[in-house]
Amino acid sequence: MFSSTLLTLATALPLALGQSYNSETVLGVYIFHRHGDRTAKITAPANLTDLGYRQVYTAGDYYRSRYIDSSSPYHISGINSDIVLQSQLQVSAPIDTVLQNSATGFLQTLYPPVGTKLDTEELRNGSTVTAPMQGYQLIPIGVAESGTGSEDSTWLQGTSDCAKAEISSNQYFTSTEYNKMYDQTKDFYHNLLPVISGMFSAEDATFENAYTIYDYINVATIHNATIPSASLLTNETLSQLLALANNHEWNLAYNSSAPIRAVTGMTLAAQIVQFLNGTLADAGSFTGQKLGIQFGAYGTFASFFGLAGLQDVSVDFTGATDYASSMVVEMFTNASDAVTTSNYPADGDVYVRFLYHNGTATASDPPTAYPLFGSGQNVLGWNDFVSDMNKFSLGDTGAWCTACGNSTGACAAYVDSDASGSSSGSSSQESKTGCSNGVSPAVNGVIGAMVTLAVVLGLEALVLLVCGLRVVSKKRLAQASNGVSSEVKA
Ligand SMILES: *[C@@H]1O[C@H](CO)[C@@H](O)[C@H](O)[C@H]1NC(C)=O
Ligand SMILES: *[C@@H]1O[C@H](CO)[C@@H](O)[C@H](O)[C@H]1NC(C)=O
Ligand SMILES: *[C@@H]1O[C@H](CO)[C@@H](O)[C@H](O)[C@H]1NC(C)=O
Ligand SMILES: *[C@@H]1O[C@H](CO)[C@@H](O)[C@H](O)[C@H]1NC(C)=O
Ligand SMILES: *[C@@H]1O[C@H](CO)[C@@H](O)[C@H](O)[C@H]1NC(C)=O
Ligand SMILES: *[C@@H]1O[C@H](CO)[C@@H](O)[C@H](O)[C@H]1NC(C)=O
Ligand SMILES: *[C@@H]1O[C@H](CO)[C@@H](O)[C@H](O)[C@H]1NC(C)=O
Ligand SMILES: *[C@@H]1O[C@H](CO)[C@@H](O)[C@H](O)[C@H]1NC(C)=O
Ligand SMILES: *[C@@H]1O[C@H](CO)[C@@H](O)[C@H](O)[C@H]1NC(C)=O
Repeated sequence: MFSSTLLTLATALPLALGQSYNSETVLGVYIFHRHGDRTAKITAPANLTDLGYRQVYTAGDYYRSRYIDSSSPYHISGINSDIVLQSQLQVSAPIDTVLQNSATGFLQTLYPPVGTKLDTEELRNGSTVTAPMQGYQLIPIGVAESGTGSEDSTWLQGTSDCAKAEISSNQYFTSTEYNKMYDQTKDFYHNLLPVISGMFSAEDATFENAYTIYDYINVATIHNATIPSASLLTNETLSQLLALANNHEWNLAYNSSAPIRAVTGMTLAAQIVQFLNGTLADAGSFTGQKLGIQFGAYGTFASFFGLAGLQDVSVDFTGATDYASSMVVEMFTNASDAVTTSNYPADGDVYVRFLYHNGTATASDPPTAYPLFGSGQNVLGWNDFVSDMNKFSLGDTGAWCTACGNSTGACAAYVDSDASGSSSGSSSQESKTGCSNGVSPAVNGVIGAMVTLAVVLGLEALVLLVCGLRVVSKKRLAQASNGVSSEVKA
């Protein structure tokens, strides 16, 4: 819908013409971005490759042309075009080499070096100093709270740090859907052993490791000129591997009957709303925040897609998003008056648009708008957007702790005397699905309380004892999905 011709034209005729093509003024933008091409998770630590660096560098250049370049019709009102103004920008990534480096690569083109004219400073004593690297602009990257080490982790939900979300995702491994897939694909994975036996034992070559196996092979098909038994990797087999990995990861990231599973999407939703709300609160102030950028994992995309109902727009949203993909919330006004600090649009004149691109966005292959929340509308009023996001967003530590059932560490401060009552109430719901083995509802309530206790104390064995549930512990699962036995690692 944003034709590249229009963008090219606007760039070619930088006068106010660009604005008149498009009577919208962009006020603020939030971008959530996946890292570029990397090495396989199973060969942790994962690293961004040169190809991946190139991808995020290219995407940064695209977003510069859309939002930073002063001649773009989508230039964010008031944002600096050449020299970065720190307060206008908020960039974050979890503590993770691949994600942190991806953010750096992206920023290199978002705000490229200012060149030799602007990189010189005169000192008191009259001598001049030239900044290194042609005026390369240093931009700090904040630490996103969850997702630490996510590219080294084969168990993404574990990096969410949320107790109930981990339990919920683990329940997938006991579901009928999972068991059916597991049985149906035994031969398929077994037959791939000649390709993957360097990393996966026969026992680990199953649907349980669908993503890790896909990831290992996908990385090899990009980088390894000498894959053992490569003839086994027909197009059909490769697409089957992808489809199975997509199914596996979608189910771990989202389940409409178990919303907490999508906790990373809930946190992201709050971050987006809080950032853009902050932009509105700054009311066009020059130093106000205007562009938020966060790097994160495909699991967060999937969780957010599920919560926002995008899987109903296209089944493609249930597939893991490609390297260097981005989703964007673009906040704008179409009020005809020029946007200034003294004439800043009222909330009722503010709209948002959700954009997404699978893989590296470029001017010739830009992001596309999609309707959120089953609205069928590519443009939503700001107030409606906020109220729909708030239906699932988790915006502060207290809400997060309650929803996650965490009560220790940073969450200890949020535990009050009522909390045990209410959390046993909600977890008795879970125990009904977990222990639906003819136990009466009253007993289930008690089990619910015990499950909560077991979670809090980390005594998963107690759950096993009480309801014969096979709760896969995070550690065991990590080992299993790693497929790395201690011998292999050593
Ligand atoms: C990633 O880089 C680290 C050094 O920073 C290295 O030890 C590791 O082997 C690299 N991983 C791969 C898969 O190349
Ligand atoms: C001027 O000050 C800088 C920084 O203190 C110093 O490195 C430089 O040698 C000084 N130049 C002269 C000519 O004194
Ligand atoms: C929440 O609980 C889980 C499971 O007990 C634990 O792994 C995680 O570290 C906790 N998170 C926080 C922030 O306390
Ligand atoms: C989704 O959640 C429900 C309720 O917890 C559970 O019964 C079902 O097995 C889950 N499905 C998957 C695929 O995880
Ligand atoms: C690449 O191929 C070689 C065989 O030539 C194999 O030893 C190695 O494990 C492969 N690496 C990957 C990541 O597939
Ligand atoms: C397999 O897929 C690649 C790329 O998608 C294509 O170039 C190639 O022709 C396909 N091979 C066969 C045998 O279909
Ligand atoms: C938006 O910001 C205002 C302060 O300007 C605050 O009162 C309000 O709670 C915020 N709303 C949301 C949804 O964050
Ligand atoms: C993105 O592309 C991958 C294939 O590379 C596909 O599996 C996934 O469904 C796509 N996602 C969307 C939202 O188009
Ligand atoms: C602004 O856009 C909204 C949504 O597309 C539309 O309803 C409204 O009429 C537009 N207002 C102006 C002044 O163009």
